Amino acid sequence: MAHAVMASQLPSPPGPKENFLLGSARELARSWPGHSERCAREYGDVVCYRFLHVPICQLTHPDYIEAVLVKNAANFHKSRDYAAFKFFLGNGLLTNEGASWQGQRQLVQPGFRHENIAIYAEIMADSAAAHLARWKDGENRDLHHEMGELALDIVAKALFGAKVGHEAQTIGEEVTAVMERFFTQAALSFLLPDRFPIPKTPRLMRSKKRLDNIVLSIIRERRASKTPANDLLQRLLDARNERGERMSDDQLREEVMTLFIAGHETTANALTWTWYLLSQYPDVEKALAAELDSVLAGRAPALADLPLLPYTEMVLKESMRLYPPAWGVGRRALGDFEVGGYRIRAGTNVFMMQWVTHRDARFFPDPERFDPERWRDDPIRKGRIPRFAYFPFGGGPRVCIGAGFAMMEATLLLATIAQRYRFTLGPDAMVTPFFSITLRPKYGLSMQLHRRT
Ligand code: HEM
Repeated sequence: MAHAVMASQLPSPPGPKENFLLGSARELARSWPGHSERCAREYGDVVCYRFLHVPICQLTHPDYIEAVLVKNAANFHKSRDYAAFKFFLGNGLLTNEGASWQGQRQLVQPGFRHENIAIYAEIMADSAAAHLARWKDGENRDLHHEMGELALDIVAKALFGAKVGHEAQTIGEEVTAVMERFFTQAALSFLLPDRFPIPKTPRLMRSKKRLDNIVLSIIRERRASKTPANDLLQRLLDARNERGERMSDDQLREEVMTLFIAGHETTANALTWTWYLLSQYPDVEKALAAELDSVLAGRAPALADLPLLPYTEMVLKESMRLYPPAWGVGRRALGDFEVGGYRIRAGTNVFMMQWVTHRDARFFPDPERFDPERWRDDPIRKGRIPRFAYFPFGGGPRVCIGAGFAMMEATLLLATIAQRYRFTLGPDAMVTPFFSITLRPKYGLSMQLHRRT
């Protein structure tokens, strides 16, 4: 467990032999998850190394992860790499800290209550059906691209309603393109002292300004409108804190951008990897199709069907175990603390990697195997799997606010699509995980479509 301690009494964690100047920078640049797996194998559940001068400590045991994310959450802020997001997201939920974060979380949270996200089920199902209408039996498509478009369409409509769907799509595409370029530079945030700004090109600044203006104009138009809409933006506009205050236009813009960014690529990746895994495990694919046929008998799935589709949900859970869209979460220690009998100093960046812990044979026997049956009968609640051996949505106070939304969306899309199509890898497919901001297939996912009869 992590405790604030008389720091000097405990040893420092073990770690690999490192280059005096670079630390483990070369190994991390080659493959961060690869380096983490090797370190966990050789040195255990608490391992420290450096990225140049920046101290990093990785925790791979569920109890230690829970200690940081939940039990001792107040001793941690987000890790240094989140600084890069600040440029785009300002003080949106993902990047905000302290009392300001807490206030914002209270304002945004009601929009994600079950009864409030239920209205998006129809958008999700309709959007999937419209998308499927473009597909043809036998053709090849990049399913990563397809899932990206679909998830973007859904988050745009959920946020702004169907009317500004098209404009929102433009925002989404622009945001994605700009973020890609920006994050090449963002690695720098690790190297720079806290207050040092990340270099930004004039082009990046122009794009950001344009994006800010589009989102602000949607917000202002909506404030001026007499007819309230039934979307997430309206819920954010109406939200009041206990003093009756509402968000300013700029706060709203930052939250909207945050939900946009956090809310589509992750879900798209979860689905993409699921299609890949299903193509590799025909028995699972058959069991999934059998559940969909018997429950839905050919009609489109709706919200009320979700509790009747347990296997569909198990498939998604297992897919996010093997290919967690958020493959690691990072924190920075505000004060010294103790974990697993070691002393960790204030300022250390602490990383907990879903990619590593989700594939740990201590918690998941035969870990590389895609086996949705692991999730039958709620093994975490029943105590068969430790709570933080599986944390695709993080945990503790900073747990993903969109987890319910994402699970509903992914389950409805999986059911809608798997009911009508199965997929085999395209002849030119090269499937390589790429550990970017999210975990995605490096070269997309080329698949052949087979219409189910
Ligand atoms: C499969 C899909 C998704 C995955 C795997 C995922 C994963 C995560 C994880 C791991 C975190 C915690 C990060 C940390 O602790 O540092 C997080 C936070 C967050 N996610 Fe998600 N997410 C998904 C979908 C969504 C969706 C659909 C939305 C919104 C529409 C969303 C909005 C957010 C926000 C706003 C935060 C920050 C919450 C806070 O700190 O208060 N996410 N997500």
